Amino acid sequence: MTWKAIGIFDSGVGGLTVLREIMQALPQEDTLYFGDTARVPYGTKSPETVTRYAGEIASFLIKRDIKLLVVACNTASAVALPTLKRQLSIPVVGVIEPGARRAVEVSRSGKIGVIGTAGTIRSSAYTRAIKRLRPDAEVLTRACPLFVPLAEEGWIDNQVARLTAQTYLQELKESAVDTLVLGCTHYPLLKPLIAEVMGPGVTLVDSAEETARTVSAILADTGQLRPPSEKGNHNYYVSDIPAGFIRVGNRFLGGKLDDVFQVSLDEEEAFVR
Ligand code: DGL
Repeated sequence: MTWKAIGIFDSGVGGLTVLREIMQALPQEDTLYFGDTARVPYGTKSPETVTRYAGEIASFLIKRDIKLLVVACNTASAVALPTLKRQLSIPVVGVIEPGARRAVEVSRSGKIGVIGTAGTIRSSAYTRAIKRLRPDAEVLTRACPLFVPLAEEGWIDNQVARLTAQTYLQELKESAVDTLVLGCTHYPLLKPLIAEVMGPGVTLVDSAEETARTVSAILADTGQLRPPSEKGNHNYYVSDIPAGFIRVGNRFLGGKLDDVFQVSLDEEEAFVR
């Protein structure tokens, strides 16, 4: 029996934090990861542009016969998920819904903070998802765009990162949220610093972990889980040259990137690195 792979995409390296959780939860599964490194960042772009990019990548992965698509990018999940779900016949899992569900589960007071890119925060997708589950929740949001380059630079624990975090998070801290959703692929790398700034009374919710649980549940429900005795293979496609992706990506994945191929979405040709 041949088993299909899980497809997963992001604007660049960030989605590797989601892939890492999926690999940990489901080591038997093959994965195909697409990082749109030629067009990153998505967080500053319009919903129309991000939706078009997401559609192109989804078609690329669908042609490689995946069984489920994970939209690892929070910005793409926030603006493009309904379109992708409508157009595709396989299950499509975004990161917003799982993150919102976890936040509602862990929050006692119902006062929930959400941080993300400008695009994610502007879309209000997390606020809507949280309020659907808990209508009386009070959701406070803050865009933290500088966290993305800080995480990519590896500046996750120095004075610049600390001052940036204190500035971005001050209001959320003062308004006494008891839960904070890390609504961007890059923020798990800054988790220790964000936890330190927010203080011990605030639970941080990492959408990546919860998304991996959702993927497992869907594959189990649909009888598409590979037997646990199997060992998954992992392939990576990027739209710019692979060098930067590999250098930064190893840190995001917390492991070694295997095969990275550069592809052109127009020509659909894969060049081996
Ligand atoms: N992957 C994006 C997200 O989770 C962050 C980087 C970007 O702006 O493209 O929203």
